[in-house]
Amino acid sequence: MAQIFTASADMRLRAILLGILILLVCLATFVGGYAESSYGTLVGWVQDQPVPFSHEHHVAGLGIDCRYCHTSVETSAKAGLPATHICMSCHSQIWTGAAMLAPVRQSLAESKPLEWNRVARLPDYVYFDHSIHVTKGVPCVSCHGRVDQMPLMSRAKPFQMKFCLDCHRDPAPNLRPPDEMTRMDWTDWDRDPGAHKEYGALMAKTYGIEPAKLTQCNICHR
Ligand code: HEC
Ligand code: HEC
Ligand code: HEC
Ligand code: HEC
Ligand code: HEC
Repeated sequence: MAQIFTASADMRLRAILLGILILLVCLATFVGGYAESSYGTLVGWVQDQPVPFSHEHHVAGLGIDCRYCHTSVETSAKAGLPATHICMSCHSQIWTGAAMLAPVRQSLAESKPLEWNRVARLPDYVYFDHSIHVTKGVPCVSCHGRVDQMPLMSRAKPFQMKFCLDCHRDPAPNLRPPDEMTRMDWTDWDRDPGAHKEYGALMAKTYGIEPAKLTQCNICHR
């Protein structure tokens, strides 16, 4: 049979094919790794903000409840970011001259809201609702982590589909009594995991939560 390629051309072809294969493997590893990495999920990343607002200071230090600033978290899809007059309820008396707070005073004077850069955000094609979670026993800490230990806000969990589904398949272990939703350090199950297991299952039943329904695509993609 006549040879189509000379021996050296054949070698070159093999080398090129091998090169392409290695490149593809590297690319797949990189893309996969990227999706899981903090570059992809933004976990732990801090955003530049107009004012270096500290949750650690205001939540852990001063003991202000989340709902004082995120006023619509129990009643609507959005938790809401605080209006400037909420900051001024204290800062018209405390630290009134601080340069750090100049943008807050300016915002009040010009009645223009402060423009915070968002930390926790989903793509537009995903539907999310705070009130349904918070009124059915899912606490802030399950999704936002130890906010009371964050001098600057950063994302605590990867907001990927798997994160949502892991809980939707079995929400019981996360459920809490209604008056502990904003507590960051509520550790019933650390002390007695057995007791919480029963409690969680009971809560799921009381609230009428059906995990089978919660994994259907159209719950989150409407
Ligand atoms: C319930 C009162 C209260 C409210 C409401 C409040 N702060 Fe504060 N803030 C304080 C106190 C008290 C301090 C600390 C002063 C100190 O310890 O030196 C402080 C400190 C600060 C500081 C200095 C940096 C730091 O954390 O130590 C910034 C910046 C700040 N607040 C921004 C804000 C912004 C922005 C808002 C609105 C979203 C706000 N605060 C709402 C009471 C409040
Ligand atoms: C004194 C007001 C105040 C209190 C109290 C407060 N926050 Fe905030 N929160 C803010 C401000 C201002 C921002 C925007 C700036 C930033 O991201 O740090 C914010 C941002 C956030 C964000 C990021 C939102 C985004 O997508 O950018 C989350 C999550 C959050 N807060 C959760 C909580 C939780 C949970 C609590 C209670 C444990 C809480 N906050 C208590 C004022 C407050
Ligand atoms: C089941 C998970 C979950 C729980 C529980 C939860 N959040 Fe969120 N939160 C999210 C997600 C996801 C986003 C991003 C939503 C988006 O981009 O549409 C978000 C966004 C936010 C924001 C940004 C602005 C806004 O208006 O939504 C704030 C502030 C916030 N959450 C505060 C809270 C507080 C306070 C609590 C508890 C009272 C809480 N969240 C409970 C998942 C959760
Ligand atoms: C820690 C547990 C937990 C996490 C994490 C969680 N959820 Fe949920 N989710 C629940 C529970 C519990 C309910 C209430 C179920 C019910 O009402 O029967 C719920 C309900 C919902 C509903 C309303 C369903 C309906 O009946 O209309 C939507 C939408 C939703 N979740 C979206 C999300 C998205 C998107 C994420 C991820 C960003 C997420 N959830 C993360 C526990 C969780
Ligand atoms: C509990 C909420 C929830 C349910 C249920 C859910 N998804 Fe998603 N889905 C998400 C979130 C959140 C994202 C955004 C992921 C990201 O930004 O990385 C997403 C992203 C996607 C994407 C974009 C590609 C990707 O993987 O990032 C596709 C496609 C998708 N979902 C299909 C589905 C299908 C099909 C089902 C039903 C079997 C389903 N989803 C059920 C929350 C959900």
